[in-house]
Amino acid sequence: MRAGVFDSGVGGLTVAKSLLEHKLFDEIVYFGDTARVPYGTKDHKTIVKYSLEALDFLKSFDIDMMIVACNTVSAHALDELRKNASFDVFGVIEPGVLAAANALKSKNSSVLVLGTKATINSGLYQKLLRQKGFDNLISLAPSLFVPVVEEGLFEGDVLESTMRYYFKDITLAPDAIILGCTHFPLIADAIGRYFPNSKLIHSGDAIVEYLQTKRRFQSKDNPTTLKLLASDNAEGLRKTAEVWLKGLI
Ligand code: DGL
Repeated sequence: MRAGVFDSGVGGLTVAKSLLEHKLFDEIVYFGDTARVPYGTKDHKTIVKYSLEALDFLKSFDIDMMIVACNTVSAHALDELRKNASFDVFGVIEPGVLAAANALKSKNSSVLVLGTKATINSGLYQKLLRQKGFDNLISLAPSLFVPVVEEGLFEGDVLESTMRYYFKDITLAPDAIILGCTHFPLIADAIGRYFPNSKLIHSGDAIVEYLQTKRRFQSKDNPTTLKLLASDNAEGLRKTAEVWLKGLI
């Protein structure tokens, strides 16, 4: 089975990493729209338009299904993608919400949702969490985390002060934190040190769990091959993949 994995740029490699680790597919065709990243600052219409163009592009690789690694696209364009595809299209938001609900014992638990401006403003995480009975929610769009991660600053002063800036008003540590942006798993250790008792929800792990339990996908014996495609600077994507997916490709 060949899965198309779509992201606005390089960040979706964090989701590809979980998929590769669990060997769910024979092949992953990864497309990062590096020419037009970030999507998280764009409006709904633009995100849908770019996503449909990515779908058309991925269709030419004869994929059997599409996984939207990007939270922003999952929040804004999933319905349109599904309407225009003859195969299954999965996003990361519903799996993330299910993973959070599974990780929390009480409906009174507090959940901090982190995502891009477009993801947070869509209100989709918040809506699905409320439907599951979680009302104690805080949502934040720490936009500076994205360039900090792309600079490779997974720890150190810049990241620490960026975290202090965004988290300064959070007086009670949340019970769970949804890392609702492809880049945030790369700073999960630092976020985990800031909030040592919070459960961290990673989109990549969440979609793997969702595919395995809800869709009965089983791991294969052979490793998944990975084809990397980018709308700009394909070499940059390949180099990032060599670092982030070390040992898997
Ligand atoms: N991939 C995006 C997401 O997960 C983050 C980067 C962007 O803004 O495009 O929401």
